[in-house]
Amino acid sequence: MKIVILTGAGVSAESGLGTFRDKDGLWTKVDLKEVATPEGFAKDPDKVHAFYNMRRKNARAAKPNAAHFALARLQAEHDGPVLIITQNVDRLHAAAGSEALHMHGRHDLACCWTCEARWDAPDEMSSADQCPSCGSTTTRPDIVWFGEIPQYLDEIARHLASADLFAAIGTSGQVYPAAGFVSEAKRHGARTVEINLLASDISDLFDEHIVGPATEVVPRWVDGLLQG
Ligand code: APR
Repeated sequence: MKIVILTGAGVSAESGLGTFRDKDGLWTKVDLKEVATPEGFAKDPDKVHAFYNMRRKNARAAKPNAAHFALARLQAEHDGPVLIITQNVDRLHAAAGSEALHMHGRHDLACCWTCEARWDAPDEMSSADQCPSCGSTTTRPDIVWFGEIPQYLDEIARHLASADLFAAIGTSGQVYPAAGFVSEAKRHGARTVEINLLASDISDLFDEHIVGPATEVVPRWVDGLLQG
């Protein structure tokens, strides 16, 4: 059985990293157009760098939680492929020992708009930084902003087309294309499960719902899968 898992901010919430759209979520406090769009970066790069420097610092201090570890165990022990796709830019899946496709980029990488080089982001990025490859000052965090195309979409489409089970964990289903993955997987015959603290905007699309905090329900769900 091939399992494809999509994770969102809810899987890292209990590691102390805030979500975006819950009460007190990041987008209730900060205008996403100013800090998470190419236009916002063009207008005020220092503000955008300060925002990601703060998020990078918080993410580097965070530790993986029981949900990240359970997913790593599933990837290591399941008798079949397990693909994790994450919308998160933190590195907590990797810190727990699993591999994940970061479709919205990674806070710990920087990239160059001119030559497309990628390198490890320093703790603090600034608009004066030079690209280590081409020397230009068109550097930016390696984050997919609103209005940009997420990474790995062709690879993800191939995996969704061959999934037997698709699970969405801790994501509100408000941001496309990720919010459309459940329909894509279902169209190709996968069973679908949503794991979330609450029902999401797209709950009706799933065959099964598991409600509760990720650190409690994900390890139980993984135990069930591994026990067959
Ligand atoms: N356990 C499980 N689910 C949780 C928990 C928890 N402890 N805490 C919160 N959640 C759920 C919420 O109920 C909500 O459905 O996590 C979801 C978080 O939703 P969002 O804040 O919208 O985050 P996400 O879906 O990952 O956002 C998608 O939006 O801003 C962009 O690029 C950013 O990748 C992000 C994308």
